[in-house]
Amino acid sequence: MFAGNPRAGYFPYKGETMSLTVAVPTLNHLEMSSIQDHVDSAIDGLLASLPDPAQLTSECRRGIIARYSAVLEGNFIYWMTGAYLAVRSDEARSKILENLHEEVRDSHPNMLRKFAIAANAVPTESDNWAVYWDLTNVRLFIGRLSAVPIVLTMAFFEGFIQRFMAFLAELAQWQGSTEMEYTDVHGVCDITHTQELFRSLAAEMAISPVEQETDIFEGMDLLRTLIDTIVEGAPAPARN
Ligand SMILES: [Fe+2]
Repeated sequence: MFAGNPRAGYFPYKGETMSLTVAVPTLNHLEMSSIQDHVDSAIDGLLASLPDPAQLTSECRRGIIARYSAVLEGNFIYWMTGAYLAVRSDEARSKILENLHEEVRDSHPNMLRKFAIAANAVPTESDNWAVYWDLTNVRLFIGRLSAVPIVLTMAFFEGFIQRFMAFLAELAQWQGSTEMEYTDVHGVCDITHTQELFRSLAAEMAISPVEQETDIFEGMDLLRTLIDTIVEGAPAPARN
């Protein structure tokens, strides 16, 4: 039985036979609550570490927006597509498809590009280098198509981005921008949406049990490291 440490990664459904449409087992509630607490505290920690935009130089503010754009504009749909390829439950599939439709139909990459242009923060070569290694780690993690860790990573990111948008918008305002469509669209705090993501996670855990040694928080931790680099910057690695 799950014993309070969400990193133990032990789930009691391994070996159970289930159809692709599953009723989320009630036994899972304690585990899910513990996992959700861990995700929430990771989000709280990241947000608490953000600097005050008013205290940053213009170049620091530009750099954060540029590195965020360098990561999200070209990768978020790839991450979601990886998640779609990995999952098996109807709950997770429909949630991811809904998100992908919105991303493509409303062209969120274009929305983000307009946000960066208006803040004079289009990523430069050095912005791309600054995030390269941490972004590569997330890409390779997604490429392993491991369903439960990926869905958990998505749940973490969805929760994070809603609360990060106010900070991103403030950076842009300090840079003289009034283009806020991207931050307005992504800054809506949607409790139902978050609950649905955790329901998807529970369904996926039931249908694709993870091995005991699997770190289900691996992707979330890689993404946290990447977000730290977005905010703090990193020296460009040597080209050789
Ligand atoms: Fe989006």
